[in-house]
Amino acid sequence: MPGGITANIKFFEPHPIFMKKAKGSRIYDVDDNEYVDLCLCLGPLILGHGHPAVIEAIKKQLENSGTTMLGTPHELESKMANELRHLVPCAEMTRFVNSGLEATLHALRLARAYTHKTKIAKFEGHYHGAHDYVAVSVSPPLNLAGPDSAPLAVSNSAGLPQFVLDNTVVLPFNDSASAERIIEKNKDELAAVIIEPVARGFLPPDKDFLKSLRTVTKENNIVLIFDEIMTGFRLGLGGAQEYFGVTPDLVALGKVVGGGLPIGVFAGKSEIMEYMSPVGSRSISDRVFHSGTFNGCPTVLAAGLATLEILKKNGTYEHINWVADEVKKYMRDAFEDERLDAKVIGLASMFQCLFTSGNVRNYRDIARADSKKRMDFDLELINNGIYVRPGRTYYTSLAHSKPDLKKTFEAVGVAAKNTAKH
Ligand SMILES: Cc1ncc(COP(=O)(O)O)c(C=O)c1O
Repeated sequence: MPGGITANIKFFEPHPIFMKKAKGSRIYDVDDNEYVDLCLCLGPLILGHGHPAVIEAIKKQLENSGTTMLGTPHELESKMANELRHLVPCAEMTRFVNSGLEATLHALRLARAYTHKTKIAKFEGHYHGAHDYVAVSVSPPLNLAGPDSAPLAVSNSAGLPQFVLDNTVVLPFNDSASAERIIEKNKDELAAVIIEPVARGFLPPDKDFLKSLRTVTKENNIVLIFDEIMTGFRLGLGGAQEYFGVTPDLVALGKVVGGGLPIGVFAGKSEIMEYMSPVGSRSISDRVFHSGTFNGCPTVLAAGLATLEILKKNGTYEHINWVADEVKKYMRDAFEDERLDAKVIGLASMFQCLFTSGNVRNYRDIARADSKKRMDFDLELINNGIYVRPGRTYYTSLAHSKPDLKKTFEAVGVAAKNTAKH
């Protein structure tokens, strides 16, 4: 395995940690060290590791069907599509895939077919998975990124063809005037604008930013895609579109909706989604190709449906968000006590800390923060029994409880003290 890992996100300096098992809020490494888990598999495990109802649903599904896959339509697909139709405002129709990457890829292809246009626009610093058209300006070096109000398309991966960069327009987050200007300038070629409504899961949009994006895309026949792979079922059952009251044309979902098993979902307005349908009079050349051997895996959908049932219960979100609020509050106090210039930013159960005295409203503000201090702080957390993916978003779950908070507070106190000394 190049680098000893199967996904680059799993690597961090000085070395990643090999984990062995996990239960509830705790994860254990191969040396039997125990950690409170604030990484939660990079977000999906909103109920914690191995929630009994999720494990039971997986077992039951396997026992009842006697197989892992049916390779044909089955009832859990309809059940989940119906759930999404009721919970997520734009999700009139749904298709399942196996990762977030596939969800955004297919949503963008659909937008091209629907509008008969080629280019897509994405926001600087936003991540939509590992495929070509969105592997652009995810973490561009600031000296290559161009003006604040007119970011350049910068490759985020070796191997990207130039035509990808030529066909991906990059927009500045939280700058409505500039985003609108760039969108209007490219309106005849733009098929879609894709956005993480809450950037990297933690940085919220300014008031009315999403509304202005909705207006300008609608006016110019451009498909608006919300990538809710992070925000979906973390900001609430209806995701960011319900939270901010702005309905996109298409949504990409993943992480939480698979209950901890691999999933991606793209959903949206029937008028657009119907472009994939083999039923009816659309010719092959007019139809959007979408397929996949493992799409709609029943084991995954059983885990996802069990997760949604618990999320619907009174008090579930309140608890998960309360834990996050407590940690955020404690972090802020600890940074203040140690006179560290730091911000703790996030909504619901996703947040980050950034070592900066400046305002944080977009990728460039994040990139200017002291990333070395953040790495120091996160490694201190790990060394004090709190598992995080250094430099990335922290997550909380239903499984976190007061003893976890106590351990987290102690670690945050020590980590802040030691980071101040570095
Ligand atoms: C906002 C967002 N979009 C897309 C993806 C890609 O999802 P996956 O890793 O399942 O391909 C991620 C993954 O972290 C994400 O956070």
